[in-house]
Amino acid sequence: MEDIKVTDIHSHLIWGVDDGSRSLDMSLEMIRMGAAQGVSRIFCTPHFSSQFHAYTNENIKRKFEILREKAAGECELYLGQEIFAGSEVPDMLREGRLLTMANSRYVLVEFYPWENFYNMVKLVREMVMDSYRPILAHIERYKELSDLGKVEALIEQGAYMQMNLSDISGKFLDKTAAYCRNALENGLIHFLGTDMHDTAKRTPRLTEALKWMDKKLDEDYVRDICTRNADKIINDQRL
Ligand SMILES: [Fe+2]
Repeated sequence: MEDIKVTDIHSHLIWGVDDGSRSLDMSLEMIRMGAAQGVSRIFCTPHFSSQFHAYTNENIKRKFEILREKAAGECELYLGQEIFAGSEVPDMLREGRLLTMANSRYVLVEFYPWENFYNMVKLVREMVMDSYRPILAHIERYKELSDLGKVEALIEQGAYMQMNLSDISGKFLDKTAAYCRNALENGLIHFLGTDMHDTAKRTPRLTEALKWMDKKLDEDYVRDICTRNADKIINDQRL
């Protein structure tokens, strides 16, 4: 599977708008670090939450265009947003005040790690009723979803699942890595992301994860979660 290219659907590359990249140069270095490990397409998904509200979508779009041009040839970039779950989200989506993934019906949503299952189902259902396709960000972080039956139930409601590549690699006793591998072996993950924030601590890390997936997972499934499913976002098609 050496030819496999990865589409990273979760990153904080837009500098100066959240707790991610702090400069254009840092963003370009992050892109290089990802590309060196096989990333060919990246969705820029700055946080949208009450914590980071000082930046308008216009500001984000302007910086995205600069970055997209500079990264051309190295990596294809798309714009989205990592939207923090709140009761205002469905209305804000309807009013066009939030950024969907590459302008599609797919929306990347983040919850509190301790969010209860009922609230997750409620938001997913509301979004699905409005014909959106919610993608739950880094599902390995949610306490309630340690039960894979609940992950399946959310998928049945119309949700899609994203996992952070760095969490898939880990030592033998690493509980998060064990959870991630189990979810992947059960085919419950639709998309992968680096969730990269900078060039020092939260860098793109995927080499180990790709090695493990190559060894343990069906090649067709790996191609789906690395590339083909992301094609569906870009073309705004159903999975
Ligand atoms: Fe993130």
